[in-house]
Amino acid sequence: MASGAGSGKDATFWMPEQASTVAHSVDLTFDVITWISYFFFVLITAALIWFVVKYQRQGHAVVTEGPIHNTTIEVVWTVIPLLLVIVIFVIGLKGYLNLTEAPEGCYEVQVTAQKWSWTFDHPDYAVTQVGELTVPEGQPVRLIMTSNDLLHSLWIPSFRVKMDCIPGRYSSLWFEATKTGTFRLLCTEYCGKDHSKMLAVVNVVPKEEFKPQMVKLASEYEDMSIEQLPAYAINRLYNRCQSCHSLDGSENTGPTFKGLWDRTKNGETEFTSGEKLSGLLGEGTDYVQPENYLRESILNPQKHIVQGYLGAMPSFQGQLKEKQITAMIEMFKRLDELTDADGNIIVNTDGSPR
Ligand code: CUA
Repeated sequence: MASGAGSGKDATFWMPEQASTVAHSVDLTFDVITWISYFFFVLITAALIWFVVKYQRQGHAVVTEGPIHNTTIEVVWTVIPLLLVIVIFVIGLKGYLNLTEAPEGCYEVQVTAQKWSWTFDHPDYAVTQVGELTVPEGQPVRLIMTSNDLLHSLWIPSFRVKMDCIPGRYSSLWFEATKTGTFRLLCTEYCGKDHSKMLAVVNVVPKEEFKPQMVKLASEYEDMSIEQLPAYAINRLYNRCQSCHSLDGSENTGPTFKGLWDRTKNGETEFTSGEKLSGLLGEGTDYVQPENYLRESILNPQKHIVQGYLGAMPSFQGQLKEKQITAMIEMFKRLDELTDADGNIIVNTDGSPR
């Protein structure tokens, strides 16, 4: 199928829109099997009704021996299904081989799944995206995937691709997007409480815009001043936290970010160990500055478990650059300026109002 904006069918009753080169062959397999099923459903139901009417009991007829063997019928009902499954097999095998064999010269992205977020690393540009994957249109992209904790599965319905992400092992899939736009990406392996929130988007951009966008993403935060970091963090980094940490004060897997800075600064947080944060803050203690407690909580979250929570958070050691950790902490301090009372984000990455 030719690539280019607008190629691929729109959504149908059964399927979302087609937005990759393999979508057509996946749908063909599905359609062939579905139409065969429709045909036989109608045929069998019609025969059933016809037999019921024709052979309904009408008084006491003479009962005779039924036929026990009919070679013609037996050959017909063996050969026709055999031919049909051969057709299904050939179409399915072609589609399967196309899905598993990535073409030469793919653009590669490293994917890390963890409870409950998606991280996309672009080695070519040293860019890390969270909850958002930017890819070029009309170029094959290969995802090399792993998981930090348990089984997840990456699924992009409009591209008709899906593959498990397995801890301690790499799996991969490839696609070539045929439409620009935004497409849903989701986890399709039940992975615990917030499985249904393990979502991301795929942003397909025109080929010529891809490189400039990546270059911009790579240096985005490096050039930012400290005042610009909170808006960056809430738009680019918070995606990784949002399945567990709310912005509106509601309870979740982890403590809400709303008021986090005040609770930290005032040492109000209590831990499952019975300790209180106020006892750990200040000169001669664990955390001379309250910022250090937040930093430790990001890099080594199992050290202190907040009272009432299970300590489900993975470590972000090595996943965030120093400046990004600073950006997170600055974000906590200025959360009131970044969100409204309902916890909606009200600024864009560049700090302009949303
Ligand atoms: Cu990850 Cu469901």
